[in-house]
Amino acid sequence: MKFFIDTANLAQIQEAQELGVLDGVTTNPSLMAKEGISGDANVKAHYKAICAIVDGDVSAEVIATDYEGMIKEGEELAALDEKIVVKIPMIKDGVKALKYFSDKGIKTNCTLIFSAGQALMAAKAGATYVSPFIGRLDDISTDGLDLIESIRIIFDNYDFGTEILAASVRHPMHIIQCAEIGADVMTGPLSAMEALLKHPLTDIGLAKFLADHAKANG
Ligand code: E4P
Repeated sequence: MKFFIDTANLAQIQEAQELGVLDGVTTNPSLMAKEGISGDANVKAHYKAICAIVDGDVSAEVIATDYEGMIKEGEELAALDEKIVVKIPMIKDGVKALKYFSDKGIKTNCTLIFSAGQALMAAKAGATYVSPFIGRLDDISTDGLDLIESIRIIFDNYDFGTEILAASVRHPMHIIQCAEIGADVMTGPLSAMEALLKHPLTDIGLAKFLADHAKANG
């Protein structure tokens, strides 16, 4: 299972990269705005800065919602760095844009997936990744993990090469359950990744080992 970090914060990306378990980064317009990044030149410079840190795919989202606009923006983003994956919303023109980029060999991430039908459409259009937003489904009392399961079955039935990128991950149990189901990738905050490595018995055990060592060694 690949681990992507879902942020545009360079310090957090650096920290996750140093942890040695990072496979990529996802961003979206809200995450870029959160970091105070605005204006075409600044946004592009920020993507280049992210690519310089991470060893893996970096999803950069288009703002346009019409076919021509998505193609223009996507091509500009893809030209920034070979790590860039063009992130495209699940709308009708987005499906056409996915097909265009897929035919050109440019990687894509179809975002804002909330149903198995949407994932199937994106896979048929040749998306590299589909991003089902599990946390946002949970927010409206719908089990996001059911969607991951359903997409897994469909993609396996037909051997689609499209990878399931479980997005809107909020906590460590999301990651574990996505891994059990067989999501190819998860993207979430650094806090959810770090929570995976924690256990109170590990802390208690380590404290005891160190105390015993200190006692025996004066
Ligand atoms: C995915 O690529 C999105 O950036 C993201 O996972 C959305 O997560 P949120 O629902 O926590 O905003």
